[in-house]
Amino acid sequence: MSELQPREIEDYLTNLAVVEHREAVLEEMELRAGEQGFPIVGRSAGRFLELMARSVGAQRALELGSGFGYSAYFLAGAVGSDGELVCSDLDPANRDRAEGYLRRAGRWDPVRWWTGDGLEVLEAQAGEFDVIFCDVDKEAYPDAWRAACERLRPGGVWLCDNVLWDGRVAGLGEPGPPEREAMIEPIREMTRLVVDDERFVSSIVPLRDGIQVALRVA
Ligand SMILES: C[S@@+](CC[C@H](N)C(=O)[O-])C[C@H]1O[C@@H](n2cnc3c(N)ncnc32)[C@H](O)[C@@H]1O
Repeated sequence: MSELQPREIEDYLTNLAVVEHREAVLEEMELRAGEQGFPIVGRSAGRFLELMARSVGAQRALELGSGFGYSAYFLAGAVGSDGELVCSDLDPANRDRAEGYLRRAGRWDPVRWWTGDGLEVLEAQAGEFDVIFCDVDKEAYPDAWRAACERLRPGGVWLCDNVLWDGRVAGLGEPGPPEREAMIEPIREMTRLVVDDERFVSSIVPLRDGIQVALRVA
């Protein structure tokens, strides 16, 4: 959970997203994440991912770092049961967890789940994607972007979580543990690669921990 937004704003945005879309399975997933300290994107960012995917008419999406399927819930909703959502995660235990939740929510149909490194999973796929969402370990962000930007169709969108890193990328706040501080440079490097790429128009939405949106225009 990011500390970027005042708690009241964070709660306001989350509550609006809950009112807009009530789903018991999502609440179960949020409970699990809270109990286990597992970093999911959260309700307001999840709805934002769905909004972005729907806004480009996504039918084929790929997720790098799917966890136990929380963010996949929103992307699966966007592509619909006739679409395709390629999910990837390093932890083999996450597949069954995700299938359990997403089947009950009626959102498993478009999912093709791969256990393994997200970049290798991307490499193993043929063709282009309408959306690629990145939420893997942050040291992999620059390589994830280099691989993903070539695989988005013109009109497709790159989405990437945690690009503000609690404000640390902009020098906000006190240094955290060394392993967290070590992620600042890879996130900055990836962000710089995105803004330097003339094929994309991008911005960072300061929702939760910052979501980067880059639309391929050429
Ligand atoms: C922040 S969590 C993802 C949460 C998920 N996107 C959500 O919001 O529900 C990061 C996940 O990425 C996985 N992961 C980390 N590095 C990875 C990589 N290189 N390839 C695939 N999965 C990776 C971890 O196992 C973990 O489950």
